[in-house]
Amino acid sequence: MQYIVPLTDNIHWVGANDRRLALFENLMPLPKGVSYNAYLIDDKKTALIDTVEACKARNLLDKIEAVIGDRPLDYLVVNHTEPDHSGALQLVINRYPNVQVVGSRTTFKLLHQFYDTGKLKAYTVRNGDNLSLGQHQLHFYATPWVHWPETMMTFESRSGTLFSGDAFGSFGTLDGGLFDDELDIDTFEEEMRRYFSNIVGKYAKHANKAILKLKDLPIKTIASTHGPVWRSDIPKLLKYYNDWTSYTTQKGVVVVFGSMYGHTEAMAELIARRLVEKDIRDIRLYDASKTHISYIISDIWKYRALIAGAPTYDAGLFPPIESLTHELLRMKVENRLIGIFGTRSWNSGGVKNLKKFAEEIGWEEVAPAVEAKGAATEQNFEQALQIADSMAERLHELYP
Ligand code: FEO
Repeated sequence: MQYIVPLTDNIHWVGANDRRLALFENLMPLPKGVSYNAYLIDDKKTALIDTVEACKARNLLDKIEAVIGDRPLDYLVVNHTEPDHSGALQLVINRYPNVQVVGSRTTFKLLHQFYDTGKLKAYTVRNGDNLSLGQHQLHFYATPWVHWPETMMTFESRSGTLFSGDAFGSFGTLDGGLFDDELDIDTFEEEMRRYFSNIVGKYAKHANKAILKLKDLPIKTIASTHGPVWRSDIPKLLKYYNDWTSYTTQKGVVVVFGSMYGHTEAMAELIARRLVEKDIRDIRLYDASKTHISYIISDIWKYRALIAGAPTYDAGLFPPIESLTHELLRMKVENRLIGIFGTRSWNSGGVKNLKKFAEEIGWEEVAPAVEAKGAATEQNFEQALQIADSMAERLHELYP
C-alpha cells in the first residue's frame, strides 16, 4: 500500500517527505525536513503535476502506478524545472515513454541544461493556454521568477486547485497531515517564512505580481510544491504572502551581533534590555556565528528594525556579519530601520562597513553608530543605549 493522499476524488498527492536531507540547496538547515509535493490527476487523460527530488523517484513511480495501474501517464506538467521538482523527470519518461511534457519555451530550455531531453515529447504552452483532461481543465499561467525565470502555475478549474509551484511553500515534512486543517498550521509559519524569505525573497516583487495576476481565479485549494496544502484558511495564507511580498513589517527588532571575545555581545545585550524597558516586546537577539543566517533573514523579513553589531576583522567586517549584509543586499530587502554598533582596535572595519551597508541598501539609520576601542567604555555603553532609545521611539511612532 502506498502513502497517497486524495485532494479530491481524482486528484492525489503523490509526493514524498525527505527527513534525511541536512541542507536544502546544500545551504539551509532542515531540522524539520522538507516535502517534495507532486500531484496526480486521474481523468480520461492522466496528468502528473511536477515530480520529486531524484532520491525519491522510485517512491513517486510506485505511487503513480498505485493510482493509474497499467494505464498510461499522458501528461507531465513541469511548473518548475529546479531539480527538487524535476529530479525524477527522466525516470518518469523512461517508465512512460509517450508522456507529453507540458511547459513553456523557457521550461524546455532549462530542462535541456539539466537532462538529456532527446526522448522528451514537448507540449509547449503559453500564458493563458488550456488543456482538457476530460472533466478536469488545466489553465496555465506564466509566473516568472517565482522562483526561476520559467516558473508557471497551473489552475485546475473543476476542483478550484491552484498548483502554485514554490509559491506558498514551506520547509517541514507532512507528518500524516497534508491539509492546513489537518495540521497545527500555526507551527508552520516560521518555516514558511524562512522558506519564503531565503528562497523566493529576492523575487518578492515578482511573487506579488503573480498573486495579483491570479487573484480573481475561483481558488478553493492551494497546492504548493513544498509543505501543507491549503483549503480551509486560504485568507491566512494570502495575508502572509501579501505582507511578505510587499515588505510589510511588524513592530519588533532583530539584534544581531558578531563577537569574538564578548565585547560586542555585551553591547548587544544592553541594547536588547533597553528596548524592553522602552516597551518593545518583539526582540530577537542572535549571535551570527551560531545561528544559521537563514533564520536571521527570516526574522529580518518579519520585523521593521535591525540593530547590527560587529567587531573589525582583518580591517574588514567580521565574516558572519559580512555574509548577512551581503545576503540582504543581494535580496534587496527594503524599508527597514537600522542601528549600528561594534568594536575596533588598531584598525577600523566593522562599524565602517556596516555604515556603508546601511547606505548602500538605503535603510534609515536611527542614531549615530557607536564604535568601541577594544572593550566598550561606559560612554560607549551609553551611546549604545541611545541607539536602543532612538529605535524604540521610531518604532512607537510608526506602530502607535
Ligand atoms: Fe522547490 Fe525552486 O524549487
